[in-house]
Amino acid sequence: MNRKILLLPGDGVGPEVMAEAEKVLLALMGSFGLELDLERGLVGGAAIDAAGKPLPDATLDLALESDAVLFGAIGGPKWDKLERALRPETGLLALRSGLAAFANLRPVKVYPELAGASTLRPEIVKGLDILIVRELTGGIYFGKPRGMERRNGSRIGFNTMIYSEAEVERIGRIAFDIAMQRQRRLTSVDKANVLEVSELWRDVISDLAREYPEVKLEHMYVDNAAMQLVRKPEQFDVIVTGNMFGDILSDLASMLSGSIGMLPSASLNGESKGMYEPIHGSAPDIAGKGLANPLAMILSVAMMLRHSLHQPEQAERVENAVGRVLAGGLRTADIFTDGMTGVSTAEMGDAVVKAIMQD
Ligand code: IPM
Ligand code: MG
Repeated sequence: MNRKILLLPGDGVGPEVMAEAEKVLLALMGSFGLELDLERGLVGGAAIDAAGKPLPDATLDLALESDAVLFGAIGGPKWDKLERALRPETGLLALRSGLAAFANLRPVKVYPELAGASTLRPEIVKGLDILIVRELTGGIYFGKPRGMERRNGSRIGFNTMIYSEAEVERIGRIAFDIAMQRQRRLTSVDKANVLEVSELWRDVISDLAREYPEVKLEHMYVDNAAMQLVRKPEQFDVIVTGNMFGDILSDLASMLSGSIGMLPSASLNGESKGMYEPIHGSAPDIAGKGLANPLAMILSVAMMLRHSLHQPEQAERVENAVGRVLAGGLRTADIFTDGMTGVSTAEMGDAVVKAIMQD
């Protein structure tokens, strides 16, 4: 039986980069025996316009029935003023939550050819390979109480950063397990010098470490982690952290790789099911202009092939093709440097497909 994949292009550059990911999937299906049924759904602003809410029930049902979800990007100025429940971002969070996709893997790999595209000196970022494991369905993003109200004549806004032991343990376990497959170094990032929620986080991670004696665990405050990531990024192998710290640090870390347009992600439920998306947003300012870098989306396809479809050789086929295209000098605007060949979103996608076909 064919595996079912749900494509959710979303808004802004989402549909453009998704089109390139689809070309890659069709190439693998046409020439390399990949058997998939591709479905499509609405999410974000596109869903608000068509169905009145950012995550229509039909989309969530399709996602739940699928083996994996490929997600483009959501959001844009058109929908920013809507009440929170109707905003595109709420749809994305509901989808993560609905799929119980609590483990967000954000690999930060620096392709040797792109070391010069980073805003950091090439010798700082060369050969870098970090994995950020971000808790995705808890913490301050979902904590209650939350709200905005009037108290004593002035408005207040509030959120709650909350983690249970069980939530920390399950994300911690994922991070330790992955660290065992890599260099066996794990940095847990928190703010335990100020926050009780972080004190608990640190306790639970430390307890877990006893089960993984081969992993060298280090705790780091989030402010220091931000500094260390640009000071000496090579010190990191796997980083595990909560929802908001992971959101912030992963954008920061993306700049090591040259561009946020390079970074894929996987959001897993602890089993095979997952949602795969670039870590970048919908970039409304460049949407529709052929400027977006489709590689983060295409590399998200590779992560899907590996983590949900258990086809590592297909994943490598895609990753190797991306490597060859970069080695050949093709660059979208975000990673362009002197002497390289500038290409559009679609030209980059076509080049990856061509490289796959020559495999
Ligand atoms: C991300 C994004 C999302 C997040 C937004 C769009 C809700 O920034 O995936 O990192 O904050 O998780
Ligand atoms: Mg983010």
